[in-house]
Parts: sequence; C-alpha cells; structure tokens
Amino acid sequence: MLLADDAVAEVIKRALGESRVFRNREALSCDYIPNKLPHREEYIKRLAELLSPLFRGEKPSNVLIYGLTGTGKTAVVKYVVRRFTEYAKKAGIDTFKFAYVNCRNEDTNYRVLLKIGTDLGVRIPFTGLSVAELHNRLRDYVDSRRVVVSVVLDEVDFLVKKVGDDLLYRLTRINEELSQSNVSIVGITNDVKFIETLDPRVKSSLGEVELVFPPYDAIQLADILRERAALAFREGSLEEGVIEYCASAAAKEHGDARRALDLLRLAGEIAEREGASRVSVEHAKRAREEIEVNAAAEVVRTLPHHGKLVLLSLAAMGGFAESTGSLYLVYRRVCEGLMIEPLTQRRISDIVSELDMLGVLMSRVVSRGRYGKTREVSLGVDPAIVIKVLSSDTKLGEYVKLLKVGGIR
Ligand SMILES: Nc1ncnc2c1ncn2[C@@H]1O[C@H](COP(=O)(O)OP(=O)(O)OP(=O)(O)O)[C@@H](O)[C@H]1O
Ligand SMILES: [Mg+2]
Repeated sequence: MLLADDAVAEVIKRALGESRVFRNREALSCDYIPNKLPHREEYIKRLAELLSPLFRGEKPSNVLIYGLTGTGKTAVVKYVVRRFTEYAKKAGIDTFKFAYVNCRNEDTNYRVLLKIGTDLGVRIPFTGLSVAELHNRLRDYVDSRRVVVSVVLDEVDFLVKKVGDDLLYRLTRINEELSQSNVSIVGITNDVKFIETLDPRVKSSLGEVELVFPPYDAIQLADILRERAALAFREGSLEEGVIEYCASAAAKEHGDARRALDLLRLAGEIAEREGASRVSVEHAKRAREEIEVNAAAEVVRTLPHHGKLVLLSLAAMGGFAESTGSLYLVYRRVCEGLMIEPLTQRRISDIVSELDMLGVLMSRVVSRGRYGKTREVSLGVDPAIVIKVLSSDTKLGEYVKLLKVGGIR
C-alpha cells in the first residue's frame, strides 16, 4: 500500500513540477497552429489571394483543398482564417465572417448548420427545428447583414459519406436565394476518391479552384519539427539527431507532419518519464516502436473473429506461410484447439486478401515451376505483437497464452 502511494505521489509531484525537457508541450499538440508554417508559404499566399475579395465584401471562388493526411491542410486554412480575422478586427472591417466546421465531429446536416450558425453568432436551438427551417433561418440572417460568409468544411468527406451531398448542394446554391450577401465555401479532404463520388454539379461548383497539398519529404519535415521544437522544448534538451530521426521515420510513411510531431512529443514524454534531462535518439526510437505497436494492436484488436484466427495462425507459424494451403492447415488446428468450426479454405483465402488490404499481412503469388502457383503470406507486424494483443482477447485469450511465436508449423 505504502509503495503504491509513494509511486502515485511521485507521479503527482512530477506532474506538478516543472518539466526538465518541455517548455511548452502544447506547441507539439496537433491543434496548435504556429505562426510559421515552413514549406507552406506559397499555399498560404495563394489561399489568402483567393480569399482576399472578402475584404472588399465580394464573394471569393469556392476552393477545394486536398492532399494526404498530415500535409498541413487544416493548419494552412486555420492560419489564413486567423490572420484575416485579426486584421479585420484591427482595421474595423466587417465585410466578412468565417465559419469553421469539422465534419468528422459535426456529421449530420443539422449539426453542420448549427455550427455555422454558432460561428456567425445566430441564436438557434440545439434541436427542434427541421434542417430546412434551420437553413432558412441562417439564410435570412446572412441576407439581413450584407456580409460575405466563408464556410470552411474540413474533412468534408465524412459528412458526404454519412448523409450524402444534399447539404453541400444547397450550400453551393444558396447565393441564388440571397439578395445582398454571399456564401463561399472552402472544402478540405484527404480522400481524393471522394471527389469523384460527388454529384457533378456539386463537384464543379465546390471545386471552382482546387489546391493540392503534396506530402512533405524528410528535409521539410525536419524544418517543421525544428520550428515547433524551439517552442516546445527547453534549450539544449534535444540531443543531436533526434529531429532528423523523427523526420525521416515520418517521411517513410508518406510525409505526414502529424506523425512526425507525435513521434517527437512521445520521445520527449519517454525521456521525461525516465527523469532524463535530454531527449536522445534512443528515446525517439522507443517512441517509434510504441506508436507502431499501438497502431498495429488497434488494427488487430478490431478485426472480425476469423481474421484474428488467421493472424494468430500466421504468428504461430513465425509470421510466414509459403502457401495459403499451409496457412489453412495451421488455422484448422487452431480452430480445433479452440473447439470451433473452421471456415472453408476458399473463405480463408478471401480473408487473407482482406487482411492484405488492411496492411496487416502481405500476400504474394509466386510461381513454383511445374508445381504451379502458390500464394506466400507474411505478417506485416511483429508476430509477438499479434500474440500479445490477442492474449488479452476475451474469446481467445486463454488459448493464445499457451501459444508461442513459431509454435506451430
Ligand atoms: N508546414 C507546417 N509547419 C508546421 N506545422 C505543420 C506544417 N504542416 C503541418 N503541420 C502540423 O502537422 C499537424 C498535421 O497538420 P494538419 O492538421 O494541417 O494536416 P491535414 O493535412 O489537415 O491532415 P488531415 O487530412 O489528416 O486532416 C498539425 O499539428 C500541424 O500544425
Ligand atoms: Mg485536417
């Protein structure tokens, strides 16, 4: 008891005390918008130019921004919105207003309109109105003010996938109903395929101008991290090579700045947990492992039952099967051990393809001369992780605890 209390007291003391490595941990969080966004200066300028008619009370073109995850889309848009708003406030300009909606959080038509209304300062009840009524109220409010409203719809694909593009259609058409005001839209998405699914009319009006954000390379990521690290860490608390390590690790995974920042923050937290005064490359390596294990564990944990069994079988084979046939034999033995009915080989073959698409395993057709073709299967994650995650599975746990990596062949 005393020991546990002491351990807790220790943690609390550390939480209350000043960090030895961080100066401002917040600066590494993904919501933080820094004053400088290296390697996005051109996009900032371009977006500012596109939106600049707002200052004259004129409607800007609708803009559609796309690019892979972590390429700075949200950061750039929020940065420009912030600068415009600050400038307008200082100069006493009231020709425009912004509304920002993250459609991953606000994923019904009602909630999107509600958020727009809230940002514009319109009083509306949380429930009780129909979407059409809400739409009309917003329209009347906007039209009575003589303003241009710029609506940012971030992660807009979430909304469309959930409820269709009806609201987008209405929003892009709303100007036809307005006599003295205007609404323009900035849509953001990381799903290029989504754009193709839109109604052609919505697509052409939403994408009057399109901006594509490319992924960052390792050198650019290092510049980004350096800027943020200067805000977040105490001077001298980052050892040489840490930034470069985090940058190159993230660059290998499609140049995602969020990944790079997460890695750097976790490296700092690991150093802190250990009471170290400096963050080393070793800490960053451990952070990377931790992130990879967590990500892989999450995928494994959420698979359907027989998907788990296939992975488990592959892990029990040491992570490699020279054919789906040999994998199937092991899978049957696993089912036997668990006393459950195995699926057919055909079905398992389909599951292997599905798992391949999820990236948890790789399958490859190889030609074995006159023996024909077989499909080699290898695990995309460490077999030990699969075993570890599944040993806490409610249905499989007891059985898995008895298995070892490579334990069945
Ligand atoms: N050029 C940059 N300079 C500094 N920080 C950046 C830069 N680009 C991205 N970031 C940071 O990286 C993180 C991810 O960026 P952001 O949220 O803008 O990505 P995104 O393109 O919107 O990704 P998603 O499609 O997943 O929403 C944020 O913390 C952001 O502040
Ligand atoms: Mg974003």
